[in-house]
Amino acid sequence: MARMKYEELIRKMTLEEKASLMSGKDFWQSQNLERLGIFSMFLADGPHGIRRQAVGSDQMGLNAGIPATCYPTEATVANSWNEDLGERVGSYLGLEAVAQKVHVLLGPGLNMKRNPLCGRNFEYFSEDPYLAGKLAAAYVRGIQSHGVSACVKHFCAKNQEERAMSIDVVVDERALREIYLTAFEIAVKEGRTRSLMTSYNKLNGTYTNENKHILQEILRGEWGYEGAVISDWGGSNDRVAGLEAGNDLEMPSNDGETDREIVLAVQNGVLDESILDRRVDNLLDLIFFTGKLEDKSRFNFDVEKHHRISQKMAEESIVLLKNEDAILPIRYDKKVAVIGEFAKTARYQGSGSSRVNPTILDNTLECFDESGIRIIDYAPGYKRYGRKSGKLKREACELAAGADIVLLYLGLDEATETQGLDRESMSLPANQIDLLEAVYEVNSSIVVCLSSGSAIEMPWIGKVKGLLHGYLGGQAGARAILRVLSGDVNPSGKLAETYPLKYEDVPSAGNFPGREVTAEYRESLFIGYRYYDTAGIAVLFPFGYGLSYTEFEYSDLRINDNGISFDLANVGKAAGMEIAQMYIHCCSDAIFRPYKELKGFKKVFINPGEVKNITIPFDDISFRYFNTLTNGWEIEEGDYEILVGASSADIRLKASMHRKGTDAPVPYRKEDLPSYFEGKAAHIGDEEFEQLLGRPLPPSNWDRKRDLGYNDTISQCRYARGVAGRLTYWIIVFLHWYLKRIGRRNEANLIMMSVYHMPFRGIARMTGGSVSMAMVDGMLLIVNGRFFRGLFKLWKEWRTNSSK
Ligand code: BGC
Repeated sequence: MARMKYEELIRKMTLEEKASLMSGKDFWQSQNLERLGIFSMFLADGPHGIRRQAVGSDQMGLNAGIPATCYPTEATVANSWNEDLGERVGSYLGLEAVAQKVHVLLGPGLNMKRNPLCGRNFEYFSEDPYLAGKLAAAYVRGIQSHGVSACVKHFCAKNQEERAMSIDVVVDERALREIYLTAFEIAVKEGRTRSLMTSYNKLNGTYTNENKHILQEILRGEWGYEGAVISDWGGSNDRVAGLEAGNDLEMPSNDGETDREIVLAVQNGVLDESILDRRVDNLLDLIFFTGKLEDKSRFNFDVEKHHRISQKMAEESIVLLKNEDAILPIRYDKKVAVIGEFAKTARYQGSGSSRVNPTILDNTLECFDESGIRIIDYAPGYKRYGRKSGKLKREACELAAGADIVLLYLGLDEATETQGLDRESMSLPANQIDLLEAVYEVNSSIVVCLSSGSAIEMPWIGKVKGLLHGYLGGQAGARAILRVLSGDVNPSGKLAETYPLKYEDVPSAGNFPGREVTAEYRESLFIGYRYYDTAGIAVLFPFGYGLSYTEFEYSDLRINDNGISFDLANVGKAAGMEIAQMYIHCCSDAIFRPYKELKGFKKVFINPGEVKNITIPFDDISFRYFNTLTNGWEIEEGDYEILVGASSADIRLKASMHRKGTDAPVPYRKEDLPSYFEGKAAHIGDEEFEQLLGRPLPPSNWDRKRDLGYNDTISQCRYARGVAGRLTYWIIVFLHWYLKRIGRRNEANLIMMSVYHMPFRGIARMTGGSVSMAMVDGMLLIVNGRFFRGLFKLWKEWRTNSSK
């Protein structure tokens, strides 16, 4: 075991002092130890801007942070497929972190987009671990170049918001490694992140924050991670188990309650003090890396400049999805009607912990003059939060009738894409679709400008000629879209996720968001294009798809053992950027796999008439697969096809090569896993999934015979034995329903985020010590039917807690 860096300093600490460092000082800061020159670090969200709260602390984005540049969200930047751009985003984030005295920036988020309905997809990069990992590593390098730390999150397999703090993710080891861990591996090895946040959920039965398999064997063991491990806010369950597994800091503060548990565990011989020392050592390394941030000359940043830069980032990330009759770019002589509430009040980021208080906020209507697009007027057309309005629709149609082109701003609202809640469907709000259909009746030259951070269904696509997806472009996103519409910028983004034709086609649709206790990842490796491609399911827009105002031609593919090269020509009239993608297909069928997987990409700028030679190297990920028999990465000997394309469905060049293997035994028998071998992974039965897992499925439903415990959520009070418990449940449900009904969706969401899906332990872990675990015991007695005993305990513990 490596020597500790701060051994001497740690030797000077008392047991209590060491334990005190293991949890927050308050909601955002780590504990300090003045006596030994150990200062507090400030940790702040992330991931697409700094959310340093000045007054009022919460992890749901309720209280505004100090103004900071709101850059495009990760889901947006992912469409740029540009690692340099990612590094630049990171670098500007790092600069602003320093300016706001933030030592640890809580991002980037690199969970996989397993299902399009996950409420936080807008905060994540992609459905592909290679692309997500490369971009995350770039962010990390950029952030850390300013001497502050990135904090990659949420480690790992956090792919839904519902019951996020209690759900047990059941996933087979190979999918865990190849899909859910690979992006983290790249961010750790290539980005060298200094800190990492564990997720809220359980993984195969154990909370990730207590999971030795991922924290010790994989993260520190296999990947050689030397940074610190931080819990998600309120995500620490059993403090001592977490510490033993590898957690170095619990956030936020619980007023020392769990520090005392650590001290007791050491005193009782339950926890070896040397383990605590190691955790303190890791944390000190992070503290001293980030430094004191006292150089005041760095406390300012050029607000206007950062705004412009964030516009550039958005410009490179916009995706042109449809351009019939070359309706775009819009010519100067066209009369344009602008319709849609989002044109007036921009939709530019999601809700929850990532919500940034922007320094400046562009909106479309204010930017038209400089765009050169001639607008005749604006009409809102629909109500933002889904309510119907015949009047708004009529006014919009009247306006549309007199225009050459209708620019229709549609998308999801911020109450739909949020932490704490998954989307209910993949569709746009019905009032927006109604509007589109009505406008189409009076004018069929429609260009839709879409704002949303995740995939949506588009049964209406036939009614629009142009479709530009701005995703969530940050505070300058509105202007960026106009620059693409006007042709000042040639669009160069490509989708980092697949758009299926309908939700039912999504391979995890039947298992999302899981049952009450578990979320079973039955589709295994087959998420996103890996599934559609292999199972032969038609999609609306494939992974890697995006149009340009010019055309590119691919030719002359050459392969050697180290990689490929080919020529890329711009054969159109406009200068532009192309994203060339390299996929690898294994010709053998001894081991089941997706038909092809992304293993390299390059974004290049090419002038009209110019030809560039592109090289893409192979790397240690290119040919590997995870073998569950050898418990390691192996290469299967055989022929491989190297596919080069403009999208996952538009392969332009192909060549074959033979690769020597690592001679590992084949881990599967085809007859045991027929659906996986056929890639038909959408409806896997219990038996086949158990075969893949190598163990019986854990119970997925609530056990009605047992009492509610620390890790049961408030929503599970519906099963409570005590009337008070059930009543609480119904009051919450009613409140939620009522708030939604009267159109107060944000407030309704808040109930889901802060109460409904919160496990009982969260009441103590999130309240900074005002509620102790012993008080939670009292609450549990009440909901479990021992009302008076519980009430007495609650009162007694409350008195003890308040007299501390
Ligand atoms: C979120 C994290 C965030 C933290 C602090 C949690 O609820 O899951 O992503 O960094 O709060 O706001």
